[in-house]
Order: sequence, then structure tokens, then C-alpha cells
Amino acid sequence: MLIAVPRESKTGETLVAATAKTATQLTSLGYDVVVESGAGDSADQSDDAFTDAGIRVGTAEDVWGADVVVKVNAPTEEEVGRLRQGATIVSMMAPMRSPELVERLSEAGVTALAMDAVPRISRAQSMDVLSSMANVAGYRAVVEAAHEFGRMFTGQVTAAGKINPARVFVVGAGVAGLAAIGAASAMGAVVRAFDVRPEVAEQVESMGAQFVEVDFESEVSSDGYAKEMTAEQEAATAAMYDEEARAADIVITTALIPGRPAPKLIRAETVAGMRNGSVIVDMAAANGGNVEGTETDQRVVSENGVTILGYTDLAGRLAAQTSQLYGTNVVNLFKLLTPEKDGQLTLDMDDVVQRGMTVTRDGEVMWPPPAVQVSATPKQVAPAPAAEAKPEKPKLTERGRLALVAGVAAVLFALIAASPAPLQLNLTVFALAIVIGYYVIGHVHHALHTPLMSVTNAISGIIVVGALVQLGFDNSAVTVLAALATLLASINIFGGFAVTRRMLGMFSRS
Ligand SMILES: NC(=O)c1ccc[n+]([C@@H]2O[C@H](COP(=O)([O-])OP(=O)(O)OC[C@H]3O[C@@H](n4cnc5c(N)ncnc54)[C@H](O)[C@@H]3O)[C@@H](O)[C@H]2O)c1
Repeated sequence: MLIAVPRESKTGETLVAATAKTATQLTSLGYDVVVESGAGDSADQSDDAFTDAGIRVGTAEDVWGADVVVKVNAPTEEEVGRLRQGATIVSMMAPMRSPELVERLSEAGVTALAMDAVPRISRAQSMDVLSSMANVAGYRAVVEAAHEFGRMFTGQVTAAGKINPARVFVVGAGVAGLAAIGAASAMGAVVRAFDVRPEVAEQVESMGAQFVEVDFESEVSSDGYAKEMTAEQEAATAAMYDEEARAADIVITTALIPGRPAPKLIRAETVAGMRNGSVIVDMAAANGGNVEGTETDQRVVSENGVTILGYTDLAGRLAAQTSQLYGTNVVNLFKLLTPEKDGQLTLDMDDVVQRGMTVTRDGEVMWPPPAVQVSATPKQVAPAPAAEAKPEKPKLTERGRLALVAGVAAVLFALIAASPAPLQLNLTVFALAIVIGYYVIGHVHHALHTPLMSVTNAISGIIVVGALVQLGFDNSAVTVLAALATLLASINIFGGFAVTRRMLGMFSRS
């Protein structure tokens, strides 16, 4: 079968559905591939790059007569007319919002697969173009904001004075929001974020931001997407949005409820109350925007000097990388559609991923597909019957802990007092080492346990040296103890090296 990649007809589009690398991967599945001349020019994929990779570069006629046409944007009416009957078209096509396109594809008697309708389930992640795009776009939103902001993100104390870090507020912590949080934190900003789905709080924190808590009833989502807010929830969050936005230098909004217009979250009064020079990037601009005053694809400056960016081509501003990601998502889809790697596309309607993205099949309308239960919900664990419930370990109270410490200290003190003079100094050091070690090591964060291991290696080294000195002592008990100490410390040292080697192996490319 021939897969064709046309030049995108949408004005200003920089993306291409295949790069030289991904086109080659399609050929290894048994397909012939043709790319329209100039299709990859804006994504650093020249005709020569395709030809050098052994991919044919052809004309528009070559492309539109192919068995399978793979695009980024939905085909225009004219393009649908150019497809031959029985062909397959694969592209993003927002079928939920484009009933006329679905009808047109059906009339043309083609099979249409919507890349933007891949269900958000773990198995389909490698084909999820919306996540690929949102990830790049979230990063780019921060870059655009930093450019407009015109000041540093990171805080510094210099001889010439102190620079405060920029304060970034991210609304919505889905794919784009988390990417924006990661980029802004990496640039040194103080980042705060909010999402209506409480289950994302942990992810927000792991990306380096603080999750803004709002005191309202919210449920863990059953499908990884938010539901529309109740009037009560809206009232509870409105004040928070106002307060956070006014305190921020940069606001990045990504709130989305699938199939609905973007919720308006930042009101005009809030924008009017923000500082001169602040920046808002409204990533939801294509769906109507989360901010009052956003204009699609425009840069607007409010009367009080707040810049609002409503760009909808953020992913396309990093065209080479986004095309590579999109192309890889396409290759992963074709791996699924070509189980025999024989260059023959087979569509399996019993597979939820393939069914979920099929808009028409040989002209038959297949949209909408049956709902897929995707789940971000933690598994519901049935509560254990009260009788079987494990009794909780009694916790030490503050007073109990003090008593325990005092008891141990008294025992050690008695031991030191009763021991012969040469041993007293050693026992005192030993007792102090236990106390200091307990407090120092006990408070080391989990993330720092690996460097802590190297410290224990150093301690083991000292033990080995001490034990070796004792080995020559004319007392068999001392010799046995010294040999035992050498053995145990050596296990620690060599075990430490083995673990380190294994961990380093996880980062090596091969
Ligand atoms: N501008 C661009 O170039 C560009 C590129 C890619 C994606 N996008 C847009 O970015 C937005 C986010 O995309 P995504 O893939 O991250 O979507 P997503 O579904 O992964 O994330 C959206 C998040 O918004 C949250 N949300 C919904 N309502 C909310 C509310 N009232 N308050 C706070 N959070 C709320 C949801 O819980 C979810 O976590 C979409 O509107 C998408 O169209 C824009």
C-alpha cells in the first residue's frame, strides 16, 4: 500500500505529518511512502532529507491518489474531493465539533481515522497526538511568556541588589499545564498551580509547583478529564483565581473540559487588577479562551499594561520537534494497524483504540464511537471488615519519646561510668555518635539516600582500617571480631558499588 504525506494547506502551518526518520519507519512496516515536494520545508525536513533517506518525493497528484493519506490538519472540502474512493485518510479532525466534515467523508466513501480521537488509555499513549502537542505547547507557552515578561524568572542575590523570582500561576494541570509547570520551575520561577481534579495535586508538586488548595467538594475524576463545575464550586474558585492572578507575574491557563467551550476563569476585573508588565498566556484560546479579553491568535495589551497571548500555534512554533513527535505517533498507529508488517492496513473494530478513532469506514459513519472507560481513578479498595482490621501500632507520645531517650542516655552513662578508664573515651564517642547519627540521618530526605550511601561507604572504609589494625592483636576474640567487622564493612562497600553501577546503568543510552 502507498502512504502519502501531503503539504499542509492551512495558512501558516509549519508542521508535517512525517519526517525523514518516521517515513523510513513506515517503509519498514512494508509500505511505500511518498511525500509531497516542500511538505517538510517549515519543519527542517527538506526534500533532500527525504530523498537521502530513500523516501520518494512527489507531486500533489501522486499524493492525493494514494491508498492512505496522512496529514496533520483536517482535510478541506477540496482535499476530501481529491481522495479516491476506498482510500484512508488519517489526520486530526475534531469529529465531535465537525459534523459537516463527517458527512463529507462519508459521501466520499473513504475511511477516516481521527488522530485526535485516540482514547486516553495507557495502551494508546504512544499514539496520543494531543498529548504530544500539548506537551510541546506548554513548554513554548512559558518561553513566550518569558519573552514578553522581559525580566528574569530566577531569583538572585547579587552585589548590585536582590532580584525576586518571577511568580507563575498555572490553571489546569493536564498535559499542557504540567509541561508549563516543569518549564517555569526549571527556569527558576516560583510556581503555583490549580486544577479541579484533586488527584493531580501530587503530580503538580512533583513537577516543582505548589498546589493551591480550595475548600470545596470535588471528586476524583473517573476518566482523567474534568467535569463542569457546579455553581457552588465556581463561587469557591472565583475568589482564588482573582487572588492568585493578581499576585502573579505570569498566568498560564490550560483549563479544558472535552467537548465544551473553555470555561471563563479569569475575569476582566482580575486582569485589570494585575500588575503592569504581567503576562497571561491563554492556551485555551482556540476553544474560546479561559480569560476575558483573549483574542484568538492575537497579542493583546490591556489598558493597565497586561499582555494577553492567545496563540493557538504554540506547538507549531517548535515545528521540527513537534513534527517528529506527531510522526512517531503516526508510526505507532501504523504498527497497530499492520500486525503482519506486510504493508497492508487492517482495521479491527473490536479494538477500542481503533474503534475510538474511526470516524467513517468505507463511507459508513462510525462516529461517535461507544464510550471508553479510561481511568485516572485509584482502584476502589473495599474497606476491610472491622473485625479483621489490623490494630494500629501505638504511636509514642512526645512525653514517651523523651522518657525513652532519657532511659537510653542513663543506661549509656552508667555503662561509661562502670567501664575501665581507657574504654570510657571510646564509649563516650560511641554514645554521641548514636545520638548525632540518629538525628542527622533520620532527617535526610528520601531523595538523598543515594549520596548518603556514599557516606556510609566512607564509614565502612574507616571500620575496615580500624579492624585491620586490630587483627594483629594477641587475643583471639578481638581477632574474630575484627575479621567479622572487615567482612560486614566490605559487604557494605562492594554492595554500594554494585547498586551505584546498576543505577548508572539505568541512565546509559545503550
Ligand atoms: N495554544 C496552543 O498552541 C495549544 C496547543 C496544544 C493544546 N492547547 C490547549 O491547551 C489546553 C490544555 O490541553 P491539555 O492537553 O493539557 O488538556 P488536558 O485535558 O490534559 O488538561 C486540561 C486540564 O484542565 C483542568 N480543568 C478543567 N476545568 C478546570 C477549571 N475550571 N479550573 C482548573 N482546571 C480545570 C482539567 O482537570 C485538566 O487537568 C486545551 O485547551 C488545548 O486545546 C493549546
